[in-house]
Amino acid sequence: MAGKGHWWRNAVVYQIYLRSFQDSNGDGIGDLKGVIERLPYLQELGIDVIWLSPMFQSPMDDNGYDISDYYRVDSVFGQDEDMDRLIKEAKEYGIRIILDLVINHCSDEHEWFRRAVRDEGCEEAGYFYFKRTEDGKEPNNWRSNFGGSVWSQLPDGRWYYHTFSPKQPDLNWENPRLRREVYKIINWWLGKGIAGFRVDAITFIKKDLSFASVETLDGERYPVENFENYPGIDDFLAELKRETFDKHDCFTVAEAPGVGNEDFKKYTGEDGFFSMIFDFSWESMEGEADKSSVDAIERLKKRILDNQQFMSRNGWCGIFLENHDQARCLNRYLEKADRGYHSASALATLYFFLYGTPYIYEGQEIGMVNAVWNSVDELADTRAKITWKERLEQGEDEKGLLEYFNHWGRDNARTPMQWNDGKNAGFTDGKPWLKVQDGYREVNVERQREDPGSLLSYYKKLIALRRDEALADIMGNGGFYPMPEAGQGIIAYRRASDGKEILVIVNLLNRENALNQENLAEAHPDGKTIDELFSEGILLNNYMGIEINSKKLVLRPYQALVIMEH
Ligand code: NOJ
Repeated sequence: MAGKGHWWRNAVVYQIYLRSFQDSNGDGIGDLKGVIERLPYLQELGIDVIWLSPMFQSPMDDNGYDISDYYRVDSVFGQDEDMDRLIKEAKEYGIRIILDLVINHCSDEHEWFRRAVRDEGCEEAGYFYFKRTEDGKEPNNWRSNFGGSVWSQLPDGRWYYHTFSPKQPDLNWENPRLRREVYKIINWWLGKGIAGFRVDAITFIKKDLSFASVETLDGERYPVENFENYPGIDDFLAELKRETFDKHDCFTVAEAPGVGNEDFKKYTGEDGFFSMIFDFSWESMEGEADKSSVDAIERLKKRILDNQQFMSRNGWCGIFLENHDQARCLNRYLEKADRGYHSASALATLYFFLYGTPYIYEGQEIGMVNAVWNSVDELADTRAKITWKERLEQGEDEKGLLEYFNHWGRDNARTPMQWNDGKNAGFTDGKPWLKVQDGYREVNVERQREDPGSLLSYYKKLIALRRDEALADIMGNGGFYPMPEAGQGIIAYRRASDGKEILVIVNLLNRENALNQENLAEAHPDGKTIDELFSEGILLNNYMGIEINSKKLVLRPYQALVIMEH
């Protein structure tokens, strides 16, 4: 699936968290008509694909990642026809749509689960994992991804299994009828003309069926080795691919935690299960005491370069700085004093030309940052609520917890899109479901749109370059060549194909830095001098011009360059 020559290797994907993107009817919740209204913006931005977060019918315990009817659009997002219209109109703008495919679990309000609860002996009872225990206690000590046990109890005493919240019962993939139902859903949507799927939490679909308790792990009882990428999953994934994706030659990107290097090829290699999987190794500097220090940057550099080298030989991946499950990237990668146009554009340049397909999360292109959460009542995320309760019970204090969620909470990424400096940042005429981030008067689309020096304008240039015909072969098929010796605090790499190459150089320090001739020579064995190199063609630069001083390329704080070589 991941072979060379596929269109999606040269695509730029934009993630829309529907609830927070654009409200069209004043109920305070983003909707499909809102996305349709904003198609001209997305076209102007230059992206190819929208990844739309779940818009299916749902009680919204986890904002749509708990689906009660896979064939219907939830009424808060619009009508079924709005989805057809979006697919059609997006196509007219040259934009494809991929949907979020949530098939590890559904909602406890799905008809299947309801029937299974009513009647222990019915067909659908086999679609889930139910257990009874003699001592009336949970069947094992496995911990759920959102906190608490993976088991919740029904009034009749049965326990059911959920990797995430108790309102998200896991589907039993061992059951062939269930699998057929899932394939029917997928093929139905593909028949509607969508381009493919972002596949949610797919590595959880196979469990260790002994369901044996485990020795306490990390004090947390979260036994990934019993339910993440568990042996036997290959059969499920191969069948899934054969019965659905292959029939439509569609584009799939999987959220696949737990897939190590040894399995990477199986997942995204030439005949892998998916077109690509997200690269989660490209993590933030979470927990780093000083994110701007040379040491922290050198550690990040090693992770990126090593991982890219590996992936470029074994498959294809989706690369991102942000998504709806993480705090904003400017908060995660940068100290507050360092956040600004240059640092944001440097981070963007750094990931955009790596080996893989780049994803942009809504608002990232204008530099949105985390909100300030003053109390737990302002938080909406179901995971935050479960964790809050659990940690309070364990004795943590509210102040510390609030601090934690201010840094890492998922709500940070979910505040409404900042379109302008008017009421609710132009997101809604009503009361927004989640508060608007305070900085919207300065950070918004309208303000940046006409300003050639804005982050938004830089992202447009970046996207145009990543999709440029002249670079298509390098970006889609070219190898990845790290330049670990480029200098302390500098992350540099080359991408090359058929004698053509680009060079990406990013100074991640908030001070002047130098890439000197020796460093370049080590990293760039064809012996070019700095002058030769830079006379060839600077494709992108987040500063005006460059400075070469006594054979040294002087890099300004957070300067980023993309250079074409022939
Ligand atoms: C991963 C999704 O990205 C996240 O938002 C969700 O809560 C879980 N999967 C459960 O579906």
